[in-house]
Amino acid sequence: MKKVTIRTLQGMYSSGEKVVMVTAYDATMARIMEDAGVDAILVGDSVGMVVQGHDSTIPVTLDHIVYHSAAVRRGAKRAHVVADMPFMSYQAGIDDAVRNAGRLVAEGGAEAVKLEGGADFADVVRRVVRAGIPVMGHIGLTPQSIHKLGGYGVQGRGVEAARALIEDARALEEAGCYCIVLECVPEELAKEVTGILSIPTIGIGAGAGCSGQVLVCYDLLGFNPDFAPRFLKRYADGYGTMKAAAEQYVLEVRSNAFPAREHSFKEKVPGRLHEVPGGRAIRVLDGKGGGGSLSKEPDQVYGSGKVAK
Ligand code: KIV
Repeated sequence: MKKVTIRTLQGMYSSGEKVVMVTAYDATMARIMEDAGVDAILVGDSVGMVVQGHDSTIPVTLDHIVYHSAAVRRGAKRAHVVADMPFMSYQAGIDDAVRNAGRLVAEGGAEAVKLEGGADFADVVRRVVRAGIPVMGHIGLTPQSIHKLGGYGVQGRGVEAARALIEDARALEEAGCYCIVLECVPEELAKEVTGILSIPTIGIGAGAGCSGQVLVCYDLLGFNPDFAPRFLKRYADGYGTMKAAAEQYVLEVRSNAFPAREHSFKEKVPGRLHEVPGGRAIRVLDGKGGGGSLSKEPDQVYGSGKVAK
């Protein structure tokens, strides 16, 4: 198991190997994605939409990302973990940005941070990088600016918009970004930007010409049947599979088919437990007419990690 670092990613880029990134927000999903072979895990502020149920990423706080990043870090040992800088954690001032990026690394266990914005944020990027924290840029559709953009549409269409995007990409590279996410831009433009830069681009809705791809884990697993943007390919019917499993569980509990004997614990000492006033149980050994040992609860199982004897 070789740890993926920013040098690994740069090496992959140099040798033309695609970088695979997904989002995750908890240890279990991080483990699944890492075991599937992804190179990088983004603790995205998309958590606000797919986990918290908001209709934008704006309500996500730094504390939220610290919490989710630490969980992902515990679940992923090999993958490169990047934490998103949420809305207003870096826009209001450079000192704030450095301090907040520092929390994502120190408390959240992230190895890099991602922030949205182009040339306007070059100074922020420069200072965070100078503090020893790698920064992933993010241009094109930048969801934290939803109110300014007026919707989640494709960005960079037309000559002026394309030129501005190229300038943003150049400014971020020059400021020290080690990688740039291109979200929802025409594939020709994404390819052109990728060709101009000497750092990897990671696309989402940006075509096949990027150095790598990123998707939101719940989207690629098909958890939300109502979310079907053009750029998304669902690799599983997560919603259907999980709903069917939960329906079966409901059915089996109601029909007494679950738990079966193999899911139930046995007494270690043969005998019967008698409830006595006061709430304690006393074991009555078969054939001895009572007076057995006092019983505690049978061995307990906490979560799925510990197995009872
Ligand atoms: O928050 C997120 O999940 C992201 C990706 C879509 C790139 O920023």
